[in-house]
Amino acid sequence: MPLLPRVDEMYVDENRVGETLPGQDFGSSVELALAATNHLFNTRNSTRYVAQVLQGVNAVATKLDRTTRPFTGVGPAEMNARIGAVDLDQPLPDTAAALEELETVYLGDAIYFHDAKYAAHLNCPVVIPALVGEAILSAVNSSMDTWDQSAGATMIERRLIDWTAERLQLGAAADGVFTSGGSQSNLQALLIARNHAVAGLRQEPANAGLRLPALLEKLRIFTSADSHFSIQKSASMLGMGFDAVISVPCAADHKMDPAALAEAMAETHDAGLVPMAVVATAGTTDFGAVDPLADLAALARAYGAWFHIDAAYGGGLMVSGRYHHLLDGTRLADSVTVDFHKTFFQPVSSSALLVRDRAMLQHVTYYADYLNPESAALAEIPNQVDKSIQTTRRFDALKLWLTLRIMGADAIGALFDEAIDLAGRVGSVMAADDDFELAADPQLSTLVFRYRPRVTGADALADAGLTDAHGRLSEDAADTLNPAIRAAVFASGQAVVAGTKVAGRHYLKFTLLNAEATLEDISEIIGLLRRTGAQLLANASNSEVSA
Ligand SMILES: Cc1ncc(COP(=O)(O)O)c(C=O)c1O
Repeated sequence: MPLLPRVDEMYVDENRVGETLPGQDFGSSVELALAATNHLFNTRNSTRYVAQVLQGVNAVATKLDRTTRPFTGVGPAEMNARIGAVDLDQPLPDTAAALEELETVYLGDAIYFHDAKYAAHLNCPVVIPALVGEAILSAVNSSMDTWDQSAGATMIERRLIDWTAERLQLGAAADGVFTSGGSQSNLQALLIARNHAVAGLRQEPANAGLRLPALLEKLRIFTSADSHFSIQKSASMLGMGFDAVISVPCAADHKMDPAALAEAMAETHDAGLVPMAVVATAGTTDFGAVDPLADLAALARAYGAWFHIDAAYGGGLMVSGRYHHLLDGTRLADSVTVDFHKTFFQPVSSSALLVRDRAMLQHVTYYADYLNPESAALAEIPNQVDKSIQTTRRFDALKLWLTLRIMGADAIGALFDEAIDLAGRVGSVMAADDDFELAADPQLSTLVFRYRPRVTGADALADAGLTDAHGRLSEDAADTLNPAIRAAVFASGQAVVAGTKVAGRHYLKFTLLNAEATLEDISEIIGLLRRTGAQLLANASNSEVSA
């Protein structure tokens, strides 16, 4: 049956559909079950499916049309009260009513990443082709674990993995799998690296008879002080503990210092420990720094350590027209994390782990008779569960597939390039602004800065020790003020910015991923931060005076 003609029909019918559905007094459980089957996604209900999904899509589109700021500023207590008041045991009469309620409990006060004044975390505005994919994949509901639950979906995922591996120049033996996010990709990379290292240790006669915990005690992971915390969490989950991760200092540009890595690896080796992995970051969360990949790869190789690149953020550079070169060196990796839900403008979730040598994925293979028996592998039945740490798994690859088929890779790269260029322009503006201090020049699309103005004539602040010898707001006062600015701006809903710490001091952060945001938009946020900061300082000054 053709689907498209029916869509128009349903615009006419949508209010009628669902009238006989939940919230009614069913005489018996049989009647209830019969009515409930009206909700099943199946051939009989396809009309209802189109109508209800369209109602949901329309609710979002209406919201988009009316949204003028990234947030309303609603607080957790208010939302908790509203959501707590919903009686989950009493369904509403129809989809329209549920969507109306959703406005109060979610849509009305959600945080909207498409708004130009959302500039906080690594959340991207999403592209429409991926939303088409999202609608299709959740309806068909393929599960990526086995061929007999996914069929063509398996091949689409495999093709995209090959495409990504080729872009990263990982070689003909590369392989990988989609995951739920960068943290999971990093975990899987380190699980493989750990098992690979343990397999090596087991070859040594001196380790004969040692059980796994004794071997794990020897392993160390090296990563920069600026890398993502999922590395520490992974080490903990892998039975090695947080302290198996050696934090290597960065140079002033926030890239891992290869000399410091060399020193740390030598020390570890001399202490009889085993350098298990070097984790480089291609795009650190705060500064967007890309570690010197070739230098780090050489050191990893010299010690027989696994070389993983966390390109969760920087992965989008692989399709960039202007900044592709920043990712040079991925070909040297044993594994790479790429988050499509960051710099490929995909909805959460969509990430992948790539490995240079497909044989390494066997470290996560386990044959279960009910699902993926070894006989299936021998018969070359393509069961993706053999490569994954998940079993049931979403067909997230479809979103990227439709994005590439509808927009093309270059268009995605162009969106990221715009965001990087914008960060550069905002960096120049801020560097010339005496009220703000940039912690570093922007490298990808983030800016880390703090409001620390010269305070002239504010004697009360000076008396209170809130200014330094040069009349600037003191570091301690800036530490109190900047998180307060962030919180006040968030509560106003007019903009959303992030916060972080640099050398123990509080900073604010912009993460720019919106190709439609302009310098004017971001300048307006800067103006808002300045006004909020000045107001908070004035309040502090007044209270000092009155005290
Ligand atoms: C460099 C880096 N790696 C890993 C992650 C974790 O990714 P996810 O949030 O998808 O788990 C992030 C998240 O911001 C990141 O910036």
